[in-house]
Amino acid sequence: MQLRLFSWLFVLVAAFFALKAGAQDDAQRAKDALIVRTLLRLPGVDLSQKPEAKAALLRYLEGEKGTEKYLEIVEKFALRETKDELLRLAVEQSEGTLGVKAAGLLVKFQENELLAKTIADPDPTKGAKLVAALGLLSDKKTNDLLSPLVTDEQKPLAIRSAAVTALGRNAPGQRWLLATVEQGKLPADLKFAAANALLSSADEAVKSAAGKHLSLPATAGGQPLPPIAELVKRMGDAARGKELYATTGTCAKCHKVKGEGKEVGPDLSEIGSKLSKEALYLSILDPSAGVSFNYETWAVRTLDGTVLSGVLVSQTDEAIELKTAEAIVHKLARDDIDQMKKQAISLMPADIQKLLKAQDLVDIVEYLTTLKKPGPD
Ligand code: HEC
Repeated sequence: MQLRLFSWLFVLVAAFFALKAGAQDDAQRAKDALIVRTLLRLPGVDLSQKPEAKAALLRYLEGEKGTEKYLEIVEKFALRETKDELLRLAVEQSEGTLGVKAAGLLVKFQENELLAKTIADPDPTKGAKLVAALGLLSDKKTNDLLSPLVTDEQKPLAIRSAAVTALGRNAPGQRWLLATVEQGKLPADLKFAAANALLSSADEAVKSAAGKHLSLPATAGGQPLPPIAELVKRMGDAARGKELYATTGTCAKCHKVKGEGKEVGPDLSEIGSKLSKEALYLSILDPSAGVSFNYETWAVRTLDGTVLSGVLVSQTDEAIELKTAEAIVHKLARDDIDQMKKQAISLMPADIQKLLKAQDLVDIVEYLTTLKKPGPD
């Protein structure tokens, strides 16, 4: 009984101190907010002489992460200490205003080393997202950072392709790309990305010069595919898209949506929350440019000479399981494997647009955008 009383007492005392600490936090926060408001009103503040004010700003920012205000304050006071948070935003919201602004601040702060390190990250999707955010800045200052990536064949295709798209977003970048194409220096696996960027140029001269070397692939019926910049502007019919997805498009042969279809590639039940329209078109039309993590294609040769390619679904010390494009799982003993190599290309066919007319594709993408994560409402 006494023990119970003691433990109750203990809980009460702990609660008292927690409340007190909370009150102190609140007081500190109110004080910081006041300092921030004052600093924001003053012109030309030099924080190098005011370490306490800077500390107050940084403490205040902790509670403002992921907001417009955060970036505004970081920019006004050139708070380079926030670079890791800026990078996180740039990668996680690479297609949104906040992410693009954060990327812009990293460029402004000349954090080139941090940018280069992220672009070289072992997970290429991270680097590709950062490159995409840099591209959406449409600022020619980023070109020097991005153009060497295009011809560096050591870099993953996802990064090089994102760099082409990024350069295509500003006029000097387009001219650089065009010159690279004209000099025959564009790696073949970037043709789609380059055609897509240059054939949608607002500059007629760039467009027609590019047209001499590059073309977008033909759709069903032989019509060339319009550039993605044009496709995203068209209206689609989601109901028709749903039907095409399961029939002519052959998508259901490899993707599950809400439990239906085979699962060779990623489940698409919530793809509309993950990818923008533009990114959806890119995934469909140039699948190798952005192979999703865990869905890389492996080519395996067995000792008896059979070659199989597919996505690795499991691996142990004794055996691996490989799922082919037909959704057949093959179990192979390690002892029977002669060679195993990761491929640079996606298992998703690169010429799927041949099965579809441009409008069919627009309808399928419209359908995919309706596949959203269940919202809080
Ligand atoms: C032969 C199998 C196959 C077919 C057919 C196929 N896909 Fe894929 N798809 C894949 C694989 C494997 C991946 C993962 C590798 C990659 O990202 O390229 C993928 C990736 C994707 C992605 C990116 C998913 C993500 O999470 O980033 C989208 C979107 C997509 N496919 C849509 C489609 C649509 C739409 C069709 C029909 C027009 C289609 N796919 C047909 C195999 C296929």
